[in-house]
Amino acid sequence: MEKLVIKGGKPLVGEITAGGSKNSVVGILAATLMTSGECVLNNIPNIEDVCILLDIFRDIGLKPTFRKNKLIIDTEKIATTDVTTEAATKMRASYYLLGALLGRFGHASLPCPGGCDIGLRPIDQHIKGFEALGAKVLVEGGRISVSADRLIGCDIVFDCVSVGATINVMMAAALARGVTQLVNVAKEPHVVDAANFLNYMGAKIKGAGTDIMRIEGVESLKTGEYTVIPDQIEVGTYMIAAASTGGCVRIKNVIPKHMETLCAKLEEMGAGVEYGDDNILVTCQGRPQSASVKTAVYPGFPTDLQQPLSAMMCIAEGRSTITETIYENRFKHLDELQKMGAVISVKNNKAYIEGVETLYGTKVNATDLRAGASLVIAGLSARGTTEIYNIEHIDRGYEAIEKKLRRLGADIVRERAD
Ligand code: EPU
Repeated sequence: MEKLVIKGGKPLVGEITAGGSKNSVVGILAATLMTSGECVLNNIPNIEDVCILLDIFRDIGLKPTFRKNKLIIDTEKIATTDVTTEAATKMRASYYLLGALLGRFGHASLPCPGGCDIGLRPIDQHIKGFEALGAKVLVEGGRISVSADRLIGCDIVFDCVSVGATINVMMAAALARGVTQLVNVAKEPHVVDAANFLNYMGAKIKGAGTDIMRIEGVESLKTGEYTVIPDQIEVGTYMIAAASTGGCVRIKNVIPKHMETLCAKLEEMGAGVEYGDDNILVTCQGRPQSASVKTAVYPGFPTDLQQPLSAMMCIAEGRSTITETIYENRFKHLDELQKMGAVISVKNNKAYIEGVETLYGTKVNATDLRAGASLVIAGLSARGTTEIYNIEHIDRGYEAIEKKLRRLGADIVRERAD
């Protein structure tokens, strides 16, 4: 077990480079299983979720090599479509193996997915999509299995907008017979990236990034080399950290378009934001101003940045509010922020944050991935020393977070937690 120890109060200054998008990579890695042969993926973050997926790949007979953010994988010989790796339950995105393996082999079975404890997180829309394509789905004894003789394209209207269901059903439909129309799909950058990767391999997917996708099934997919997009949420986390500490940080390897909603909110809170072609400069002087945020599907304010931004709201001048509309239980980090002196009350899905002059370092727990990011940001701006425990959650989605922050002048170290 490890902890992060932060001595706060130093403005972040300098330049860092963002890594590849976690939520793209987990879909794209699964999608490599839909082809037979060597795929090369660049800009792959070295994070725990990727490591777990690679462990699963090894368990089903593959031999991926992963060095310096480049992944090479030959997917020709997959020994089994029954995944038994227990670690699959630690992450959410293991569910993408269902759509990918179902598309190529007509069968997949794995332990029910886990991931951050932030709400109910059902997968009924994934199941609805697979069944509509003609698959049989069985959830039993903590496992989920899907099978079909042949997937047949059809029209599917999702009951809610789901990133996971969109990517999963899109993958299966890419290898189905005939045309599938997916209505009410997610438009997040990682959905578009996964669709781009599949199209690059020979799939025929139109409409990614809009509400409706049209997928003409193909017999098989080719192999190739692909570079994953930058991580919108990692970029956003460092932008908020820069603004919260009154710093001046340029983040490179960014698609500025993906950051527009956060940029607008940071500007509203008093930060300065300058866009380059593939980088963003964030500055902030003095105490930030309060703001209100309501999470929404893309291009609305991302739920994944709600928790990081709440740390900045804790030290903003005035009363901020957060309305969380995607998950039922994504406020656990607020209890931890209160241990640091934040003044917060929560009513149903709305949090009210009365800004204080400063937070104070203490011992806190990362209850989930973005909760951890929020505590890191709080610790960076706080007076005194913050110790963050359960950082395995942070490692699931941020590559070498302490090294990147040290490059910006932060006093942050990783230590053994006894
Ligand atoms: N939902 C259903 N039924 C379904 C699927 C989703 O009711 O079959 C509901 C969920 O319960 C939730 C909402 O729809 O209330 C949105 O869920 P979605 O399926 O979009 O989320 P996800 O695919 O499980 C991905 C990201 C999350 C991110 C959400 C929303 C991955 C691996 N995870 O989750 O990322 O919060 O989309 O943008 O892509 C994170 O990175 O910290 C993280 C949690």
